[in-house]
Amino acid sequence: MTTTTNADVLLSVRDLKVHFPTMDGIVKATDGLSFDLAKGTTLGIVGESGSGKSVSSSAILGLHRGTNAIVSGEILLDGEDLLQLNDEQMRRRRGQDVAMIFQDPLSAMHPYYTVGNQIGEAYLVHNDVSKKAARTRSIEMLDRVGIPQPDRRVDDYPHQFSGGMRQRAMIAMALMNDPGLLIADEPTTALDVTVQAQILDLLQDLQREFNSAIIIITHDLGVVAEMADDVLVMYAGRAVEYGPCKEILTHPEMPYTWGLLSSVPDVQGDTDARLIPIPGSPPSLLSPPKGCAFHPRCVHRDKVPGDLCFTELPDLTPARSGGSHVKRCHLPNPDEVYRVEVLPEIAPDLVEETP
Ligand SMILES: Nc1ncnc2c1ncn2[C@@H]1O[C@H](COP(=O)(O)OP(=O)(O)OP(=O)(O)O)[C@@H](O)[C@H]1O
Ligand code: SF4
Ligand SMILES: [Mg+2]
Repeated sequence: MTTTTNADVLLSVRDLKVHFPTMDGIVKATDGLSFDLAKGTTLGIVGESGSGKSVSSSAILGLHRGTNAIVSGEILLDGEDLLQLNDEQMRRRRGQDVAMIFQDPLSAMHPYYTVGNQIGEAYLVHNDVSKKAARTRSIEMLDRVGIPQPDRRVDDYPHQFSGGMRQRAMIAMALMNDPGLLIADEPTTALDVTVQAQILDLLQDLQREFNSAIIIITHDLGVVAEMADDVLVMYAGRAVEYGPCKEILTHPEMPYTWGLLSSVPDVQGDTDARLIPIPGSPPSLLSPPKGCAFHPRCVHRDKVPGDLCFTELPDLTPARSGGSHVKRCHLPNPDEVYRVEVLPEIAPDLVEETP
């Protein structure tokens, strides 16, 4: 796959596979994922539940270690393959160079320790400093993420914080060591819309300040539209469309992406947009459909000659619209199908008037 920005590449993931052997067979949760992320930029990973978003990002943090997962490929962070590190080396890089913000801070934080203790611990583990210095740094970071009276709230327990404050505290913890890469897995789904917008703004501010690269995982293409430079659409453990966000939102070429766009209001800023849910359900990753994994749900498969959609996995190939993104689909003319059939359905206001 191509690198979609000119800035320095920080993370390069190549042919990542995360497979889980189970009693019923092998679950191929991530099956050959490749992408690049440049310093200071944001990649949005989108896809329905079970498409492999969390498994893939957990592998970057090495969280599969000690489990039965079989992981292969390369995860190059600043040129070093994280999959080749021993557990101690990986432990040092986690928190220091790459950190994660989880969807549910209450379950990610320990209920018996104060917020300040937990944030401070993230600093103490990686720096030769006193507890007092760690506490001072915790207060500074709580202040930076917008917690009022941080010198008092630092001694609160997680349950004394609201949901939005806990998410801010998680962000503070993740940024304690100024990591180059921040992975945010559904960081705002548990929050109401106003708090969600505040947290996304905060992440963007902090990204500018710390120049971190961010991977944001979400179901919500609206979040991607606001935050991401690049977007990677996942289906059944694989990338099905990948490239610059603006391009994919305006010239998507994979029917699954069309489905995601149709099921999100306002992503194209169109007031008459219709909400059309994707028919059917995501496939089992134990025995995904042959050919294109999306074919049982795809209403455009009859436009492909022969039985290709049912028998052959499409490669990731360059978009026909001439941009720099790639898509995985056998349709010979996806740009035309999108313009003529899909866009008038989902966003009638955006269809260009023909003279
Ligand atoms: N330890 C495991 N053993 C077997 N299968 C697993 C294991 N962990 C995850 N899976 C499977 O891998 C697939 C991908 O899971 P993952 O958590 O990455 O999905 P996701 O895209 O993050 O979904 P969601 O949006 O619901 O968070 C799922 O089918 C899940 O059941
Ligand atoms: S390859 Fe076929 S089934 Fe898959 S998305 Fe394209 S048209 Fe649909
Ligand atoms: Mg997940």
